Amino acid sequence: MVEENKGTITFVQLVKEDLVILRIVPNDGIIPDYESGQFITLGIPVIAENYKIVRRAYSIASHPENKKYFELYIRWVRKPLPGRVTTQLFYASEADEIYWVKPVGGFTIEEKNHEGVNDDRRIVCLGGGTGLAPFVSYARHLHDTGSKREIVVLHGASYVDELGYKDLLTKLEQESLDRGRDKWNFRYRASISRPEEWFNRSWGGQTGRVENFLRSKDGEMSPLEKLVGEKVTKENTVFFICGWQGTIDGCMNFLTPKGFVTEREKRPDKSFEVKFESYG
Ligand SMILES: Cc1cc2nc3c(=O)[nH]c(=O)nc-3n(C[C@H](O)[C@H](O)[C@H](O)COP(=O)(O)OP(=O)(O)OC[C@H]3O[C@@H](n4cnc5c(N)ncnc54)[C@H](O)[C@@H]3O)c2cc1C
Ligand SMILES: NC(=O)c1ccc[n+]([C@@H]2O[C@H](COP(=O)([O-])OP(=O)(O)OC[C@H]3O[C@@H](n4cnc5c(N)ncnc54)[C@H](OP(=O)(O)O)[C@@H]3O)[C@@H](O)[C@H]2O)c1
Repeated sequence: MVEENKGTITFVQLVKEDLVILRIVPNDGIIPDYESGQFITLGIPVIAENYKIVRRAYSIASHPENKKYFELYIRWVRKPLPGRVTTQLFYASEADEIYWVKPVGGFTIEEKNHEGVNDDRRIVCLGGGTGLAPFVSYARHLHDTGSKREIVVLHGASYVDELGYKDLLTKLEQESLDRGRDKWNFRYRASISRPEEWFNRSWGGQTGRVENFLRSKDGEMSPLEKLVGEKVTKENTVFFICGWQGTIDGCMNFLTPKGFVTEREKRPDKSFEVKFESYG
């Protein structure tokens, strides 16, 4: 039997009409210990179902060192039919109560490799849409714990106004330039997948879905490799991918031929270089 806790929504920031950053404070004031990359399960009494509590998983975008609140980045699912929990959540306001179950999940940073040795390979995160959430947590966690490990966050969105956390991630990259990469080694880039649409006319960065950062043409370096300034290999880089299953598959289409292996299909010696988390 899972232990259901009560919390209060204390902050609602609409990034756009169907994209929200929410903060939840446990009613007893205690944020339990957890790891970056884990998710909490929210429970909401659904009015249309006679107030039955329906539960859904949400990746935590805040970091374990933040003992004030959980922060979540959530899309209102509207098609083909309104999602049961998100529809209700988008009617919720600050001061409303909500149920939550403590953080769990294995989509966490591996500090040691399969031989138990400290893993200092570069971390590359590819997030599609709200699949950015766990990587916001990684960045905040590594930053606040003084980690010197290199981390690159790549975000894919359809529209320029769906680049949630752009300010935070841009500031973290600027700090890397100001303080020096030997102290804090962070990069952030985004890709817009519908660049031809009028709304995106101001976009001058990477285009296409987020996996395009891995695409190399005619043996040239990929956009990711140009960004980090070297060939990306399984000896120097580990990957984390989150979002639609199509995003995971799209990324693996580039990574598998280069010898990268996922945690789910790890080698007999238990080594792997890719972790992913998808919807369902
Ligand atoms: C580990 C994990 C972490 C996650 N983290 C996040 C996160 O950080 N942010 C985030 O936004 N999401 C996240 N999700 C997804 C989230 O858990 C929910 O699945 C999502 O919010 C939809 O929930 P819902 O109740 O609103 O939709 P549901 O009611 O569950 O609907 C799901 C889909 O089915 C469709 N549907 C519903 N009823 C019918 C029907 N009768 N016939 C046909 N289609 C139907 C809906 O249109 C929708 O497309 C995560 C999922 C997992 C597994
Ligand atoms: N930890 C987790 O498991 C976790 C965490 C957060 C979110 N999620 C889930 O991840 C999904 C992302 O949802 P979202 O609304 O935030 O995304 P979204 O805004 O609809 O899409 C984000 C990006 O992914 C692309 N995309 C859309 N469908 C795709 C597909 N089938 N294959 C490959 N790429 C695709 C989009 O490209 P186009 O412009 O071409 O459509 C866009 O560039 C949701 O299902 C969400 O519930 C899971």
